[in-house]
Amino acid sequence: MSEPVRPRPIKKAVFPVAGLGTRFLPATKVVPKELLPVVDRPLIQYAVDEAREAGIEQMIFVTGRGKTGIVEHFDIAFELEQTLSERGKDLSVLDCTRATPGDVIAVRQQVPLGLGHAIWCARAIVGDEPFAIFLPDELMVAREGGTGCMKQMVEAYREVGGNLISVLEVPMAQVSSYGVIDPGAANGALTEVRGLVEKPTQADAPSNKIVSGRYILQPEVMRVLENQGKGAGGEIQLTDAMAKMIGTQPFHAVTFDGARYDCGSKIGFVEATLAIALARPDMGAEVRKLAERLLA
Ligand code: G1P
Repeated sequence: MSEPVRPRPIKKAVFPVAGLGTRFLPATKVVPKELLPVVDRPLIQYAVDEAREAGIEQMIFVTGRGKTGIVEHFDIAFELEQTLSERGKDLSVLDCTRATPGDVIAVRQQVPLGLGHAIWCARAIVGDEPFAIFLPDELMVAREGGTGCMKQMVEAYREVGGNLISVLEVPMAQVSSYGVIDPGAANGALTEVRGLVEKPTQADAPSNKIVSGRYILQPEVMRVLENQGKGAGGEIQLTDAMAKMIGTQPFHAVTFDGARYDCGSKIGFVEATLAIALARPDMGAEVRKLAERLLA
């Protein structure tokens, strides 16, 4: 009997980071939202770390005006490193910002036409390979001793191939802020996706399972995006392009076993900061005491 064909590995990830971050003004007037720190790491670092844990090598940032700091963050800061080493300081805090030469790539999205358009801007770099997408606003944190969201997705992908999205359940009252799946048969953390709709009204939503910012897609989606018209909010939606792929290729949803924080909102950002600080061995106990004191 012949071995089943293993799906091609995921080595590239696209990070759409061209947004203006208006919800976080004035903080984001000069500093890209993705560089705002959650404790002591910028938001984008969590997504890149999650990608690397999943075996992804090439990071493709879809940036825009005023957002080049994100690319700088993953470069070598020569003067800083020189000064730190002259002072005998530990340089290992910068390890997570290092990249293999050529593995950090930036493309520009000149006009904010939507998430689907942002992804399409990376088509020449993605080429003919399956690839991952990370929406860095969605901060996905592994369970203690567990693995990250993308690693869980890559493991599922090795079994089923095709396209995968991460999903989670939200109260019905929130579905209209997200992409929503029409779920088919479920098998553990995997659910077949029968349909997808972007920002439906509560009445039109096929479920309360929302697309939560992590994707593994086949390169054919770029050709669909090429001709994708405007959808919800007058934007070119990735969800609409993905919906067209259903039926032509396998399409599954993975429910992440871990925590998710919506850093696109201020409350979610504060929640992520608190949760991550509380879980950190170097400061958790102190933060807990501090929180208790503030709440008393
Ligand atoms: C985007 C996607 C949506 C997804 C959401 C997750 O929406 O279009 O399908 O559920 O991210 O955060 P946006 O937040 O850009 O409106």
